Amino acid sequence: MIRPVTDADTDALVLLTAGTGFFKPLELVALREVLDDFHSTNHEEGHRAFAWDENGCILGYVYHAPTPMTDRSWHLYWIAVDASQQGRGLGGKLLAFVEQDIRELGGRLLIIETSTTEHYEPTRKFYLKYGYTLAAAVPDFYADGDGMAVFTKRLIG
Ligand SMILES: CC(C)(COP(=O)(O)OP(=O)(O)OC[C@H]1O[C@@H](n2cnc3c(N)ncnc32)[C@H](O)[C@@H]1OP(=O)(O)O)[C@@H](O)C(=O)NCCC(=O)NCCS
Repeated sequence: MIRPVTDADTDALVLLTAGTGFFKPLELVALREVLDDFHSTNHEEGHRAFAWDENGCILGYVYHAPTPMTDRSWHLYWIAVDASQQGRGLGGKLLAFVEQDIRELGGRLLIIETSTTEHYEPTRKFYLKYGYTLAAAVPDFYADGDGMAVFTKRLIG
């Protein structure tokens, strides 16, 4: 089942994220800060965090929020599925949940940023598979040779 994230989940979420092998140590520190800020204040600012929970074990999660200073645009800031569970459709179901959640909140456009490196090729394929458009690429954004790919999907007609 998909349920809201609680502050008791933070260690499990950071561990799951580290276990994917896709995130740098700095990003794992940032994730912990994002979750701490979410529980202290940002849940009141419209940020959303949900986990896929199977009998008390978290298999994946998402974190999305309205994009400041835009007309109903949202960002999916985090999505990860446990390394042992990838490729079974959980990520697709989490993504569909996020889209529906944002639609119900009146959202218009969903934006997802990821890396252009070879390592992230499966991640980029994942977004294309689920109907996202590669709207832009910013070379050398994260670091030299590590650009930003910007995927978007319109959530209303
Ligand atoms: C990207 C991610 C969330 C997708 O979740 P998932 O449950 O593996 O995805 P699904 O099973 O719903 O979709 C499978 C599709 O995603 C892609 N994919 C990405 N990573 C994959 C993996 N490790 N195994 C299988 N397919 C993967 C494939 O295109 C696949 O489609 P195909 O079977 O037709 O080839 C997950 O693989 C993950 O956590 N990756 C590491 C972290 C990450 O990149 N997060 C996003 C940062 S922007």
